[in-house]
Amino acid sequence: MFSVEVKNLTVKFGSFAAVDGISFTVEKGEIFGFLGANGAGKTTTIRVLCGLLIPTAGEVRVMGLDPKKGLEPVKAKVGYMSQKFTLYQDMTVSENLDFTSALHRIPKGEYHHRRKELLDFIGFRAGTGRLVRELSGGTKQEVSLVAALLHDPDIVFLDEPTAGVSPAFRARFWQLIRRLSRTGKTVFVTTHYMDEAEQCGRIALMRDGRIIALNSPEKLKKEAFPEPLYELTPLTHSRAWVGKLKNERSVLDVNPYGMRYHVATRDGQAFRKAAGHMRGDFEIRPIRPSLEDVFIHLVETKK
Ligand SMILES: Nc1ncnc2c1ncn2[C@@H]1O[C@H](COP(=O)(O)OP(=O)(O)OP(=O)(O)O)[C@@H](O)[C@H]1O
Ligand SMILES: [Mg+2]
Repeated sequence: MFSVEVKNLTVKFGSFAAVDGISFTVEKGEIFGFLGANGAGKTTTIRVLCGLLIPTAGEVRVMGLDPKKGLEPVKAKVGYMSQKFTLYQDMTVSENLDFTSALHRIPKGEYHHRRKELLDFIGFRAGTGRLVRELSGGTKQEVSLVAALLHDPDIVFLDEPTAGVSPAFRARFWQLIRRLSRTGKTVFVTTHYMDEAEQCGRIALMRDGRIIALNSPEKLKKEAFPEPLYELTPLTHSRAWVGKLKNERSVLDVNPYGMRYHVATRDGQAFRKAAGHMRGDFEIRPIRPSLEDVFIHLVETKK
């Protein structure tokens, strides 16, 4: 059984299709990454899967359930950490968790057990009597995760859970995600950080409401760059060659990458020959593509 099944899902706001006929499945226990530029349609898709938005067309199943046929059973199986911060800043950690527990009608004994288990799970040390607004950004996100998991859902949707927090915290949060997945929970996560995407089992890349690629990180790299990718290190101040390379038939795209340039080719041999004529302007070496290269090549480069 799949945790998520989506068939020809379309969500329109007026005449604008924020999600435009996407189909995919997510397996149980998978860490499934949802990537795409701002406005690609990630949050909209998640909102449909959590039963918070009625789609314009298409079918979705979450843990085998159809949100159209009743929200309560879906809510019981689904945890949702929204992109917008949803804890009450002027309530304590404890009060926030009490409130979430009441919303889900979790029996008291079970609540206290789950709450302790989850606070241990995140290694929470700040004190549950603290006001949420006094916590660091990272700790707030961890408490939000606890709130999303309190009713022991089978799948959890994490919408940019690590936006705006420190690298050390991001690493810690991803340890939690991996541990969750090992306990059999399905994790559906969006991120703009490629090092995080690298840790997903599979990734769907969204662009303008459509899924333009879906595979494991390694396979995405192979698919996106069947011909070699090159890194060019400039040797002079002039960048006139960048424009020239872009017009080469063998070149797909040239993108700045820090102080260097990455060149995707449709024919590696022809490119090396063309680049040979510009010797002296840059150094050239073939490289293994990163997920960042894939993302820039597929999502951000206008075709
Ligand atoms: N309620 C709404 N009414 C009108 N347009 C909306 C609504 N919600 C989202 N949109 C539009 O739909 C598109 C997709 O938005 P969505 O929030 O799903 O993108 P996203 O991929 O989550 O982006 P981000 O990375 O910025 O979070 C955007 O153009 C957005 O402006
Ligand atoms: Mg979003």
